[in-house]
Amino acid sequence: MAGRAYLVTGGGTGIGAATALHLTALGASVTVIGRRAEPLEKVAAEVKRQGGNALAHTTDVRDPAAVEAAVDATMNHFGRIDGLVNNAAGNFVTPAEKLSPNGWRAVVDIVLNGTWNCTSAVARRLIDANHPGSIVSVIATYAWTGHPGTVHSAAAKAGVVAMTRTLAVEWARHNIRLNCIAPGPTETEGAGNALWATPEDRARVLASVPLNRFATAPEVGDLIALLLSDRAAYITGTTLTADGAQSLGPQIYGPPVNATNTAG
Ligand code: HXC
Repeated sequence: MAGRAYLVTGGGTGIGAATALHLTALGASVTVIGRRAEPLEKVAAEVKRQGGNALAHTTDVRDPAAVEAAVDATMNHFGRIDGLVNNAAGNFVTPAEKLSPNGWRAVVDIVLNGTWNCTSAVARRLIDANHPGSIVSVIATYAWTGHPGTVHSAAAKAGVVAMTRTLAVEWARHNIRLNCIAPGPTETEGAGNALWATPEDRARVLASVPLNRFATAPEVGDLIALLLSDRAAYITGTTLTADGAQSLGPQIYGPPVNATNTAG
């Protein structure tokens, strides 16, 4: 990864921040973008403290002009761009019949439109420069499992899967690879607040994971780096699921699969 430059959306916290730290530890430079300047500046400062290169750029992925400016800033600062991590997300669990038009729009705008805004802006630079590249989008297994309470996010993330598969075929001739990663429940503040805010919710989520633990942000960042890197040079248009077997379904027959799984 040495010498390469990547854009990481939602790079101020959680999986995005961990990915930025991991990529820069591997020798790449990273622009972290997000809506709030403070966490971005913190991540950039930490990268610099560890001897790496990072640029913080306040950007809402929903705004195509702002995304263009962030990609331009990356090109100006690092002289190149080699890829993108679409990590920014918005989420809250709600019964579908209670979801307002604006709630639907907010999540779809961040997850689906934001991913397109960033993907198209980065890919156009790569195609114009005849430069190979790699794009990884963070999704969730409920894009295909059918998970109550997540209709806005599931629909948006399923759209990201379709976008990834389509563009993997269409842009293969430009040597641009696109893949998704579907992490299971990952120990981050954002996901925790949105999806398992109470101790009871947390225990229930944990009980659904046969490996009996949450994923950590650094281990997800490591897998994202793998998919971006040339070690994955023949992998495109696919989704890597890293969820401790959570999405393989509830275990109905036999004893509970882990110590805390007593829900039957
Ligand atoms: C019902 C809600 C709501 C909630 C917001 N809304 N939160 N409705 N329940 N808990 C509604 C609002 O009432 C409003 O509709 C509309 O959504 C937009 O809300 P705003 O706050 O105005 O929007 P905005 O500031 O753009 O914020 C977007 C957001 C917010 C998605 C609502 O939560 C956000 O920015 N989150 C970013 C961080 C995040 O969510 N990270 C978690 C990702 S975890 P009305 O009709 O009232 O105007 C993740 C992992 C999943 O995705 C995978 C697990 C395995």
